[in-house]
Amino acid sequence: MSEELKREIERLRDEINHHTYLYYTKNAPEISDAEFDKLMQRLIALETAHPEFASSDSPTQRVGGAPVEGFRTVRHAVPMLSIDNAFDFDTMRKWDASTVRGNLEGRSVDYVCEPKIDGLAVTVRYEDGKLVLCATRGDGENGDDVTANIKTVQKVPLALEKGFRPRVLEVRGEVYMSKCEFDRLSREREEQGEAPFANPRNAAAGSLKLLDSHETARRKLSAWFYGTGEVEGAPFGTHKEMLDYLGKAGLPVNPEIKPAKDIDAVIAYLQAFEAKRHALDYGVDGVVVKVNDLRERETLGYTSKFPRGLIAFKYHAEQAETTIESISVQVGRTGVLTPVANLAPVLLAGTTVRRASLHNEDEINRKDVRIGDRVIVEKAGEIIPQVVSVVTEKRAGHEQKFQMPAECPECGAKVVKLGEEVYQRCSNMSCPAQIKGRLEYWASRDAMDIEGLGPAVIEQLVGKPLVSDVADLYAVKIEQLAGLERMGEKSSKNLVEEIAASKSRGLARLLTGLGIPNIGQAAAESLADRFNSLDDLAAVKGDDLLKIDGVGPVLAQSVVAFFASSENRKVIEKLKAAGVGMTARRAKRPEGGPDLSGRTFVVTGTLSGMSRSEAEAIIKSLGGKVGDSVSKKTDFLVVGADPGSKLQKAEQYGVRTIFDADFKKLIGR
Ligand code: IVH
Repeated sequence: MSEELKREIERLRDEINHHTYLYYTKNAPEISDAEFDKLMQRLIALETAHPEFASSDSPTQRVGGAPVEGFRTVRHAVPMLSIDNAFDFDTMRKWDASTVRGNLEGRSVDYVCEPKIDGLAVTVRYEDGKLVLCATRGDGENGDDVTANIKTVQKVPLALEKGFRPRVLEVRGEVYMSKCEFDRLSREREEQGEAPFANPRNAAAGSLKLLDSHETARRKLSAWFYGTGEVEGAPFGTHKEMLDYLGKAGLPVNPEIKPAKDIDAVIAYLQAFEAKRHALDYGVDGVVVKVNDLRERETLGYTSKFPRGLIAFKYHAEQAETTIESISVQVGRTGVLTPVANLAPVLLAGTTVRRASLHNEDEINRKDVRIGDRVIVEKAGEIIPQVVSVVTEKRAGHEQKFQMPAECPECGAKVVKLGEEVYQRCSNMSCPAQIKGRLEYWASRDAMDIEGLGPAVIEQLVGKPLVSDVADLYAVKIEQLAGLERMGEKSSKNLVEEIAASKSRGLARLLTGLGIPNIGQAAAESLADRFNSLDDLAAVKGDDLLKIDGVGPVLAQSVVAFFASSENRKVIEKLKAAGVGMTARRAKRPEGGPDLSGRTFVVTGTLSGMSRSEAEAIIKSLGGKVGDSVSKKTDFLVVGADPGSKLQKAEQYGVRTIFDADFKKLIGR
């Protein structure tokens, strides 16, 4: 029986891995999403019912694991070097003639041209086809063990395809964030009042180095592979053969990679690719040209720093020169003041650019940007226009230094700088710009989802003023709305109904809508899972918050600070009085059973008269959470016969144990 189960679990894992590969890497799914979900559900069910077969390389583990304190350092079996750069075709031709052919008796040499992906170099080690270790490049000799984070990248196979599972295959490639995902994340961070990442590369780096891999899983990273480290049992003669092998093994290999029979063909590739690269959904900052024959590459060897057989041709980021006509200051939902340069319109990488973020005062001072300056603008990571530098030679003397205002440009309140922050903030909670930002956020789809309450209506509501905080929305009358521009009787009635309907969206959406710094949708949901009401959450101590899965010090501090503010408490009381629901929406627990909400259980061993999945279902129905491995955040380990290593782990972490009979008593059986 158990052999059979084990085989089924393994078959399901193989099947899921294969379909993940077809979907994410080949873009050629063979089954529907629903069929895929069914396979996954079956695997989750089996693994939950039979934790003895759980495995860290199961596709169920892609969602990320428990947060870690830091990363372990790993030494690379084969160092991860960097390569020499070239910025023009002349240098490329010299490299071909003297560095390459000059050292190979003038023979003709063929090359492979590859997009140089603007991400982070990683190495992923497979042993007998199974993913065992992932690490960052680090200093080239030693990197960080980021296995848990890389496993959340769907394009990275957890197991190689059958027939391509050599003893050891260490592959090297680039983890990156697509432009599309970067846009999504930037919008999300802006909404949450968090500092945006400057470009997709920084976003990818930040995401890969998160201590909480659940969060990495939420940020959809991607990868391309282009090389190998240690290899045992898979011989390759050429680079092209190696790439073909990686592709067949299920690893993502970039389709823009092309062979070139000589340096003329290389240059033709560089020219053709320059225009094409902007249209790709990932950042490319150049082309890596590689000698195809691996023996020739070995013969060429290394200079003191770089391998001779590879070179990176770098494209210049597209830049343009324009004038800063003025600088305005925007105030966001959290009061952060952002200086924005208004530019004389200029064409850059296919679009007309009129504005560029200047980020903050320190940035302005560092670059010495003045109003009236001629400046060079560039698209960072090809997306957000940035002011790179000032053309100081062109200063005429009429340029004006810019000072961040001491008063908020929207409300006139004092501008403050908190602690170490680089940002200045408007100190007035009632600043109309902040109110508008908070209302927009409250009404947004992931929060209270109030259809019809967009920026134009909010602007008027705040301007009148009819509304000065989110709670006031619930007192707005149809007649008042109908008096606003572009609002008819019918749309006013609909909006009032929509607002009223939002009273029962539940705790998770309420928490999202309140816009507590660092609490986005995901964090709000896990808090709502754990607490029955907003009052319960408000009453909790910071230390107790830290015990919750996925809650770190920053988040805990944020929650505590939010509820400490009397302004915030006043709004919450007003919301309550308006009838906005403040409790979690979850299935009712069975009559009479104990309330296990907020508690995490792990079940181990064989319970008498009850299967493990039955026990877990009961715990969940009583409001408890079920984990599959014991960690510091486990509250109780339920112990049946033949418990195994989980019991030791529980002792080690000081997790309380409940034996079979007591567990039955607890659940009232
Ligand atoms: S080959 C011996 N190929 O560029 C080094 N690197 O400047 C072998 N990169 O650290 C690297 N795309 O992070 C290679 N197709 C590609 C690449 C690539 C991006 C990055 C990589 C490397 C850096 C080298």
